[in-house]
Amino acid sequence: MKLYIETVGCQMNELDSELVVASLRKDGYELTASASDADTILFNTCSVRQHAEDKIYSALGRLKNAKREQPGKVIGVLGCMAQKDQALIFKRAPYVDLVVGPGQLHQVPALVREIRAQGGSRTQQMEVSLGRKDGSRAQIERSHESFDPLRDPSMRPTPYQAYVRIMIGCDKFCTYCIVPSVRGPEQSRPPRDILAESRQLAGEGCKEITLLGQTVNSYRYRDGDRTWRLSDLLESLHEIEGIERIKFVTNYPKDMTNDLLAAVRDLPKVSKYLHVPVQSGSNAVLQRMKRGYTVEEYREMLSRTRDWIPGVAVTSDFIVGFCGETDDEFQMTMDLVRESRFKNSFIFKYSERPGTKGAELFADDVPDEVKRRRNNELLALQNEISEADNHAFLGQEMTVLVEGPSKAAEKKAMGEDVASNSERAGASPPPAFSEQLQLTGRTHCDRIVVFTGNRRQIGHFLPIVIYDANAHTLFGEVVTRHTGPELVKLTLPIGLEAQSG
Ligand code: SAH
Ligand code: SF4
Ligand code: F3S
Repeated sequence: MKLYIETVGCQMNELDSELVVASLRKDGYELTASASDADTILFNTCSVRQHAEDKIYSALGRLKNAKREQPGKVIGVLGCMAQKDQALIFKRAPYVDLVVGPGQLHQVPALVREIRAQGGSRTQQMEVSLGRKDGSRAQIERSHESFDPLRDPSMRPTPYQAYVRIMIGCDKFCTYCIVPSVRGPEQSRPPRDILAESRQLAGEGCKEITLLGQTVNSYRYRDGDRTWRLSDLLESLHEIEGIERIKFVTNYPKDMTNDLLAAVRDLPKVSKYLHVPVQSGSNAVLQRMKRGYTVEEYREMLSRTRDWIPGVAVTSDFIVGFCGETDDEFQMTMDLVRESRFKNSFIFKYSERPGTKGAELFADDVPDEVKRRRNNELLALQNEISEADNHAFLGQEMTVLVEGPSKAAEKKAMGEDVASNSERAGASPPPAFSEQLQLTGRTHCDRIVVFTGNRRQIGHFLPIVIYDANAHTLFGEVVTRHTGPELVKLTLPIGLEAQSG
């Protein structure tokens, strides 16, 4: 049986899809890269902005005929939009068989089985978690628990990297944001589960883990009389043999405590890279967003972070055109970006989300045209900064974890029918190991590096010297060292030595 799955949204969703695929493989499913020959089609959805939802509803629209022609095809909508829209999805797309919220994904295999067993006499299935007011805190929490330990290495972006969820949900309730209502209450997973999962990943050959939480640095777990913070967790994860890099996203500015900064500074495996979204440079806007800090507090956090961790790369998110944002308020955001020198920033036009406090309290009154202009202006400024800062790396040697073919190389390969998707689906022949191609990887501080290499190098750490840079990418060459009269490829991984020898 063949499964097609399409995933939008954040890393939480990528991880969820990995877990759903793992559970369906146990039922005999294989992945396919084409929806048309799939027996089951799943969409793992996002509700953070309207655009993300529109994309899914139009993809569903395109399946209407396919379902008429092949009524046996199972079509499912999973994730945040399933939790938010629930039965509305059946109304808008009556041929959908299955709606499952992010807290109920462990039920997908049984639900799909049931739908298939019903054959012609079809009933739609829906499993969602409790709403934020639909029970006691404990009941709501339980209804959002997920099923992390099931892993499927072939679904990961690369087998050498994996996400590990350390927190579920969010309690911050920023006024623009739908996440707390679709992902449920903030819950920290027990350290022993996180450590066991990470050890298992290391055993499977995983070298880099990225810890996930909506406010990952708010992590708190009470274990008897000990309270675990993120810094404690990092220290324990650091001990795991095989894990060589540890990252974590996303940080909440107010919870950037000194114990965490010290852990990032002192633990060599922890990336000196921190994503700490500020959202706006105006106190009035931050207050309307209910972010819980002022611009001054953010500045203090940023300079403390840079004092404690020399060379740290900090990145941010921004929302432009939030309710009532004036030109002056926007200019304050420009000023903050100018002075903060973020490694990069993700910039979003405000998208009103029904059901949030923002939608209830404020009018979405900044015209789209103005949002677009502000978005472009802020992006141009950030790009200028990113490019200038990237130029500082010219001539430097950096250690890169090689992730795979670069986008350009992947496109070329697609033409030759070795698409990475079908590779993941196990549909293509094994790659030619000797092939020279453009590869991409990341430095310890999360900078993307593109260089020419060899498929064997994928999954290895390589020394790369940088010769060119733009705002988003560093370009480099694999370092070869002269030792004495002979040229020895000293630092290259074993696979490559074998090949050159
Ligand atoms: N928990 C993380 C990420 C939340 S969603 C955090 O707190 O930073 C990722 C980003 O999407 C947010 O940082 C914000 O910049 C953006 N975002 C969230 N809701 C939005 C909305 N309604 N409109 C536009 N952008 C939004
Ligand atoms: Fe949304 Fe704010 Fe929670 Fe982030 S911290 S998920 S922006 S409510
Ligand atoms: Fe979207 Fe849900 Fe992530 S709303 S951003 S997929 S938590």
